[in-house]
Amino acid sequence: MSTNEKQETAFQQTNKPKVDEKRFRLTDQHSGVEHEIDFLHGTVGPGALDFRNFYSQSKMFVYDPGFTSTASCRSEITFIDGDNGVLLHRGYSIEDLAMHGDYIDTCYLLLYGELPSQRAKDQFAYEIGHHTMLHDQLMTFFQGFLRGAHPMAIMVGVVGALSAFYHDTTDINDPQQCMAAAHRMIAKMPTIGAYAYKYSLGQQFMFPQNNLSYAENLLYMMFAVPSEDYVPNPVLAKAMDRILVLHADHEQNASTSTVRLAGSSGANPFACIAAGIASLWGPAHGGANEAVLSMLEEIGDVSRIPEFIDRARDKNDPFRLMGFGHRVYKHYDPRAKVMRDSCYEVLDELGIHDDPLLSIALELERIALEDEYFIEKKLYPNVDFYSGIILKAMGFPTNMFTVLFAIGRTVGWVAHWKEMISEPTIKIGRPRQLYIGHEPREFQLVDDREQSEHKKTDWKWFWS
Ligand SMILES: CC(C)(COP(=O)(O)OP(=O)(O)OC[C@H]1O[C@@H](n2cnc3c(N)ncnc32)[C@H](O)[C@@H]1OP(=O)(O)O)[C@@H](O)C(=O)NCCC(=O)NCCS
Repeated sequence: MSTNEKQETAFQQTNKPKVDEKRFRLTDQHSGVEHEIDFLHGTVGPGALDFRNFYSQSKMFVYDPGFTSTASCRSEITFIDGDNGVLLHRGYSIEDLAMHGDYIDTCYLLLYGELPSQRAKDQFAYEIGHHTMLHDQLMTFFQGFLRGAHPMAIMVGVVGALSAFYHDTTDINDPQQCMAAAHRMIAKMPTIGAYAYKYSLGQQFMFPQNNLSYAENLLYMMFAVPSEDYVPNPVLAKAMDRILVLHADHEQNASTSTVRLAGSSGANPFACIAAGIASLWGPAHGGANEAVLSMLEEIGDVSRIPEFIDRARDKNDPFRLMGFGHRVYKHYDPRAKVMRDSCYEVLDELGIHDDPLLSIALELERIALEDEYFIEKKLYPNVDFYSGIILKAMGFPTNMFTVLFAIGRTVGWVAHWKEMISEPTIKIGRPRQLYIGHEPREFQLVDDREQSEHKKTDWKWFWS
């Protein structure tokens, strides 16, 4: 038995999943050949068929674009039961964490597996608080961007650049260095996000303050100016903290899987997180909160909602109701409920009693929840539906919404990256494909090629 196999066996003995050997059998109806497939139990939720050796035995791949039925890894961090609207981090419900814990509790829990004692929490908060500053040389990176650049573009660039600052001190085989990298990423993201915002305004960067909590510091760096005192509003700081908790992790979504895939090659962790940020940016993922607000503004008035519902139902119209639907939740997203309550608290605190966007959102939600199309397809509001209204009321511009999502999600990315590199054997992520292109053919010399083929260099052909 090789060292890898021994480590894997030891891992299997001390960790889930439990295996039911040869419980399933797949039969090729043409040849009669049978393949036995092990069944792996999860702690709760669905188990998985073990296809790891399937190709070597059968010379067939498993086709599953979008990974709708594929478990790409095993993980102990987060559990989602999408049919019943359940989200657990290390066994604790998201509602409990959001209502009774805070972001520091959540970060500690995701990274280390347990909620911290008061002493451990203070120590962890101290560690994070003492990594918030950016290397002075990194500040020059901001100057290279146009003032109007999207802050997510700045974030992808600057976080990627962090890898150049910490490359020699980030040996992924050294747990101490990995932990320092994890703390640095969680600590520096608010600073980078806030500086991206300040840069777009042409305002001075505000240095992080160690006497403030994580959420207070974020608000401070975003909204304080050197010429005035700034005391973070406790209700808004609490809401900000809750937003961070609600975004902290969501198991194997596109950005987290991107981080795992990038990290599986042994790449620098800061570069892996930059890849995750890039993936998060899209409107089908973290960019949805920005898209929700644009949509609510476009609807403009409650009377126009039916028109937009009709468009969402129309198969020939690419329009979708932003903030509705989820790959995993076929039920009300539990984060959306907490977010809706938070939304009321923030608007109340700010004295906003008749926000037109909230009225449109509430009415849209009411109509969609009663609409046959949405019921049949199990499309419920997701976490992004209400977060934009809160963030707008707090004073964030729309293009900062996904940045805030990225700040909150960094701990999840880091926890998954850490979990992946802690596996006894790291297998580089390498999906296979169902090839549907040309069969082998002979090379043609340029003079022998059909002239009409040249037309195909047109961009339309490129996208067809
Ligand atoms: C999140 C999302 C990408 C999930 O996609 P998915 O799991 O691949 O689901 P599908 O895109 O296959 O959608 C299933 C069906 O519901 C429809 N649907 C999904 N979301 C919809 C929406 N927001 N509005 C209207 N129709 C929607 C699809 O058109 C599809 O219909 P069909 O079965 O007739 O083809 C999708 O729901 C979406 O685009 N939502 C809006 C963006 C958003 O809020 N993203 C944030 C996620 S946290």
